[in-house]
Amino acid sequence: MSETILLTGCGQVVTLAGPAPRRGRALNDAGVIKDGAVLIRDGKIVTVGKRATVEKRTQARGARKLDLGGRVVVPGLVDSHTHLIFAASRADEYEKRIAGASYEQIAKSGGGILSSVRKLRAASTDDLKRAAKVHLAQFAAHGTTTLEAKSGYGLDFESELKILHLLRDLNREQPIEIVPTFLGAHVVPPEYRHPGGADEYVNFLVRLLLPAVALENLAEYCDVFVERGAFTVPQARRLFAAARALGLMPRLHAEQLARTGGARLAIEVEAASVDHLEHVNAADIRALGKSDVACTLLPGCDFHLGLQRYAPARALISAGAIVALATDFNPGTSPTLSLPMAMSLACTQMRMTPAEALAACTINAAYALGRQARLGSIEPGKDADLAVFDLSDYREIPYYFGVNHCSMTLKRGKVIYRRGS
Ligand code: NIG
Ligand code: FE
Repeated sequence: MSETILLTGCGQVVTLAGPAPRRGRALNDAGVIKDGAVLIRDGKIVTVGKRATVEKRTQARGARKLDLGGRVVVPGLVDSHTHLIFAASRADEYEKRIAGASYEQIAKSGGGILSSVRKLRAASTDDLKRAAKVHLAQFAAHGTTTLEAKSGYGLDFESELKILHLLRDLNREQPIEIVPTFLGAHVVPPEYRHPGGADEYVNFLVRLLLPAVALENLAEYCDVFVERGAFTVPQARRLFAAARALGLMPRLHAEQLARTGGARLAIEVEAASVDHLEHVNAADIRALGKSDVACTLLPGCDFHLGLQRYAPARALISAGAIVALATDFNPGTSPTLSLPMAMSLACTQMRMTPAEALAACTINAAYALGRQARLGSIEPGKDADLAVFDLSDYREIPYYFGVNHCSMTLKRGKVIYRRGS
């Protein structure tokens, strides 16, 4: 059944229309239409423009009319880096860090990612699904319509597949689009914590787990945490070669706590995205600026860990890098699922403009997930994924931090969240 919806009375429609991905000055071209309207048919955007023009063209088409009363409409937000599936918070570690322990000290003493692994292995699929559904509803309530979700708290055959099967089921059972990533190489699991164990674990991933993931088509991407205390560049290179041969594209966690060469590896293996980047040097920035690898910045981690060093967003933008922004929603370093909050941090801590921050979590984040042709902007032919904010200017999205102003979210033309209902 064909359904036509007219979203009208939009104080601003921030289209992000134009070439994708965005680099340099183009990151500031938000494409704002004042007093605008969007016509949607069968889940796709048909027309976007000035209210008067769109309404004239829409007459007699029998559209269901939704008047937004001057609110701001932006493309549905795209969160290109999350660890959606975990069993419990790590509020105990939060308190330890406040008292002075570092993230790496906690990890070395068996906490950190390994504590989430223990909890996830013990959790039932039903419990994990219930928690994930609550989180997904909160994502939608903050304007997110698409998100990438990683495995990585299982780290054995059954538990990693348990996570990826759950992501597949969630994709069918709820409206947010989930892009699954295999992160078997998050850290070395307890069973392999002996001399030579890390390479043995990489062998296990290459010979057994990656082929099993590929066989059932459970992930689009393969991620590796390239970091001291996690995996080295040569180990990651081996994993990416095996993954690519099986049809999984590379993406990386790199240069978060120290510079270990992950950014250069990302360019070498033509990764979809390289994420974190707090510790890149000037030559890395130049190289990333010339590459087609998305640079996904995750300021929620630095904020939550209380670190002073954020990724050099301004230098990356000046170098021409494709800057994206994501929450990194996870229980250890960034327990926020709010992209508007990530935008606030990007603006005040990394000096991105509100327009750059919005482009970074819409069109450029869609690019980081290989979906820029279908998602990330409000243009005819694209999916009608939209977020409505109860504000009069899009710059107020990051400005009013810590309070959610999203009042309605649509995925493929269907209302998936409405404030108060
Ligand atoms: O992106 N860096 C590795 N992974 C997560 C942290 C995971 C955790 O501490 O549980 C991150 O920061
Ligand atoms: Fe992460």
